[in-house]
Amino acid sequence: MTYRIAVLPGDGIGQEVTPEALRVLAAVGKGAGVGFEFEQALVGGAAIDAGGTPLPPATLDVCRAAHAILFGAVGGPRWDDAPHEQRPERGLLGLRKELDLYANLRPAKCFPMLVDASPLKRSVVEGTDIMVIRELTGGLYFGEPRGVERFADGGSRAINTMAYTSREIERVARVGFEVARKRGRRLASVDKANVLVVSQLWREVVTRVGREYPDVALEHVLVDNCAMALVRRPTQFDTIVTENTFGDILSDEAAILAGSMGMLPSASLGGTVGLFEPVHGTAPDIAGKGVANPIAAILSAAMLLRYALNMTEDADRVERAVVRVLESGHRTADIAGPGGPVVGTREMGDLIVRALEAQA
Ligand code: IPM
Ligand code: MG
Repeated sequence: MTYRIAVLPGDGIGQEVTPEALRVLAAVGKGAGVGFEFEQALVGGAAIDAGGTPLPPATLDVCRAAHAILFGAVGGPRWDDAPHEQRPERGLLGLRKELDLYANLRPAKCFPMLVDASPLKRSVVEGTDIMVIRELTGGLYFGEPRGVERFADGGSRAINTMAYTSREIERVARVGFEVARKRGRRLASVDKANVLVVSQLWREVVTRVGREYPDVALEHVLVDNCAMALVRRPTQFDTIVTENTFGDILSDEAAILAGSMGMLPSASLGGTVGLFEPVHGTAPDIAGKGVANPIAAILSAAMLLRYALNMTEDADRVERAVVRVLESGHRTADIAGPGGPVVGTREMGDLIVRALEAQA
């Protein structure tokens, strides 16, 4: 079997961490007797520089023809002044929408050997193991109408719209319950139903879908309260399902529980081809220095194996390799203790590939 993987490194450290994930996939392929064909394509700022647009049609074609997409990161100060529709971020948002990737899985797990890498107290983060499921193709990100009105008197008014249909809520709620069922059977649905009508519908639909999952304990949590509870007692959460904007914010917050954004992978599912990407961004401050943590990208490759290719055992092997390397004390700068020894992006990739091969 040969799998075609669309590879979209994008910008900043996306260019540095993605190659390490590819090396890991290549090693997995060798061990499992499976071929991977990597087809590189441009997205984000890199695509703007090459052809003026953040999501060229050729990139979309490569993605549609692939078994899975491995994505790096997009954006950077160089393109900050670009008009709204021509920002690098539009490349990612366009892919999500075009490929109907409505369910975004973002695990936030605190690895035992990294409890002290989190700025939060050990007693708070220890044992954290949360899966955030973020709705990814609706809400404020895509709602109509949107835009800016400029008035003759010099004033202006800008609009975004938070809108959800019951169908959009239902399908992501179902993902929430299915995922919770395979984990701790507890699902927290996060909304702002005390203020927003959209959230009232959200709560109504999630409750209705929940009747089909009597084995999963459902609770409704208001988003402000959830933000607080996440840093006060994160172990109270197992699986969280929420709308697009709330999920964007809460998943960054949850990243702190795992020690570093550099550790967190994600999977975007729903359509015919899944997209796998680290939760972190392009990190312009460290880009080009070879110091970025490739683990989020490598764990994203593990999610690709698990969710897109059903290669569960190989996904487990990759995750075990990461744990072994961390257990042996190797750290990139973002997760190193004060004064501890530090390895770069490439070395961390080497170590994980070797740990993977050693399991064969
Ligand atoms: C994320 C990012 C994106 C988002 C940006 C880069 C468009 O923050 O994946 O969380 O807001 O969804
Ligand atoms: Mg975000």
